[in-house]
Amino acid sequence: MAQKDSPIGVFDSGIGGLSVVKSIMEKLPHENIVYFGDIARIPYGTKSVSTIRKFTEQTVRFLLQQEVKAIIIACNTISAVAKETVIQLAGKIPVIDVISAGTQASTAISTQIGVIATPATINSRAYPRAIHAVNPDAEVYTQACALFVPMVEEGFINHPALDLVAREYLQPLLKNKIDSLILGCTHYPLIKDTIAKIIGDKISIIDPAITACNKLEQILIKNQAINPNQESGTYKFYVTDVPVKFQKIGEIFLNHPIEHLEVVSVE
Ligand code: DGL
Repeated sequence: MAQKDSPIGVFDSGIGGLSVVKSIMEKLPHENIVYFGDIARIPYGTKSVSTIRKFTEQTVRFLLQQEVKAIIIACNTISAVAKETVIQLAGKIPVIDVISAGTQASTAISTQIGVIATPATINSRAYPRAIHAVNPDAEVYTQACALFVPMVEEGFINHPALDLVAREYLQPLLKNKIDSLILGCTHYPLIKDTIAKIIGDKISIIDPAITACNKLEQILIKNQAINPNQESGTYKFYVTDVPVKFQKIGEIFLNHPIEHLEVVSVE
């Protein structure tokens, strides 16, 4: 059974969810974290709904074995098509997802909302549905950016090629007079500077990881589940494969060394 010092389970199709881990490390430094990244099977964003659900089920079973006290779906693609699978398996363990978080943050400040994400997230229409459930009058404009994930994974973070690709994706969105832009993929906070340069300073950039982290804190307080230990948290990273650049790019995501890194199979 989960205790106050049990870890928070955070998972993603790959490395992108580390942007959520970084937010937790900063906001809740005494919490222990177990991260799972399905590196061997990334990208999810171009896969079918049934495959994403099957992979998600395997991952959640793994996290439950680690006796996590809360689960964060740190992947928009999984939040879009497999959130119910996670909630069902988690039972009483609270589940937080980045789409609900991005929706809450954007509708609080904006009515002309742009969303950039993977093709699977955009095709699921999960963001427009969630936003319209909160504000039926909001205008939502979406753009799939299939090349951003491989570029981030390749380390093309401040690279002229990224600049070119980002302009191609963002310029059509800008014709719609959006006043906020949701980074609807957990890889995108890493290329926030390039995105900000192209969209200018009149459009607010929304990083759902920050709201997800605030929600996590509220839930832990409400459930009296904050870790009382005052040492800094322990961080364990589980992946299904370790590509050559994982450690380097992962540490750029986290701004923190990755010490406990283990390859596991969940199939
Ligand atoms: N991190 C995933 C997301 O937030 C994208 C990566 C993938 O395509 O699997 O949607």
